[in-house]
Amino acid sequence: SAAEKGGYPDFMLKEIYDQPRTVRDTLAGRLVNGHLQFDELALTPEELAAIDRVYIIACGTSYHAGLIAKNLIEMWSRIPCEVEVASEFRYRNPIITPSTLVVAVSQSGETADTLAAIRDARIKGAKVFGITNVVGSPVARESDGVIYIKANKEIAVAATKSFLGQVAALTMLAMLLGQIKGGLTTAQIRMLFRELADTALQIEQILADTSAIDEAAAACKDATSALFIGRGIGATICYEGALKLKEISYLHAEAYAAGEMKHGPIALLHEGFPVIAVATKSPTYDKVVSNIQESKARGALIVAIATEGDEDIKKHADYVIYVPKVRDCFSAITASVPLQLFARSIALLRGCDVDQPRNLAKSVTVE
Ligand code: G6P
Repeated sequence: SAAEKGGYPDFMLKEIYDQPRTVRDTLAGRLVNGHLQFDELALTPEELAAIDRVYIIACGTSYHAGLIAKNLIEMWSRIPCEVEVASEFRYRNPIITPSTLVVAVSQSGETADTLAAIRDARIKGAKVFGITNVVGSPVARESDGVIYIKANKEIAVAATKSFLGQVAALTMLAMLLGQIKGGLTTAQIRMLFRELADTALQIEQILADTSAIDEAAAACKDATSALFIGRGIGATICYEGALKLKEISYLHAEAYAAGEMKHGPIALLHEGFPVIAVATKSPTYDKVVSNIQESKARGALIVAIATEGDEDIKKHADYVIYVPKVRDCFSAITASVPLQLFARSIALLRGCDVDQPRNLAKSVTVE
């Protein structure tokens, strides 16, 4: 009903605008005296300290949250971390020992493949953490510990606020592992936590003026295909941006690590072909700019997601969407938001139902 949408034209937009609150609620009460508190994880500090391998298992958008987390877990804790779609993980024979941590990420907590994967992992002796939005869901019940994201009910089929909640929760888990393994000091934890909390304000800034996003969307709406490119965290944002676009607008999209352009996707480019580049300030910023130039030279229409204050990017891109400056490890939280709005805007221009895309379900409880 209109009341449930809170005055927004569709649930997707409402849920995109819910995101600052999701981040705040997911973080609330987590930092106590410089220590991250996850009492519900039910693992002793010794068990946590013994973890020597992490698998993040998920499907769909939740899998993309996992890709982001891998970067943070390995950076801060130096524990090797793999991210796998649950339907693959469950049918192979992954290396699992009692010091393996499996993190199952599932908004609904009832995705069939994710559930089967954690059952199997526990039988093989892994410790399992669930990250879910639904209290008492199967994933929550069948894990050793659970971190709830506080996104409240998500109704639009395409995940938005649950994704940011997952990224926030996984970021805190990565910080906890970093603290336990000695990679992060208490002072660093405090500083990172404060910056993570600040992303709620930065999302509000993005949401305050979305006109540049709508202009870029209007320029791309008639394309038959689009390519998303980025590096590092930027590449993972691209996978999610391309998924959002194809699932709600039916415009074919794919995402590539920008360094792979020359190994195939550059062949697709022609006059007016949309290339959406995540070019926020990062250690690989200059490399991404080179990839933008290569694309531009083939006639591509460039939409760049860039850091506020980056005037230089205007020389290379047809459309620039600015996001506030954040530490690179938090850029997924901010830079994903314009890509959600971009997908929605294109879907509406193409006459699609953004809340209920064809052929898709909110949760996939059968294989
Ligand atoms: C479906 C939904 C997606 C979601 C995926 C995984 O495909 O449409 O939005 O990302 O399932 O769902 P889960 O509840 O396990 O996160």
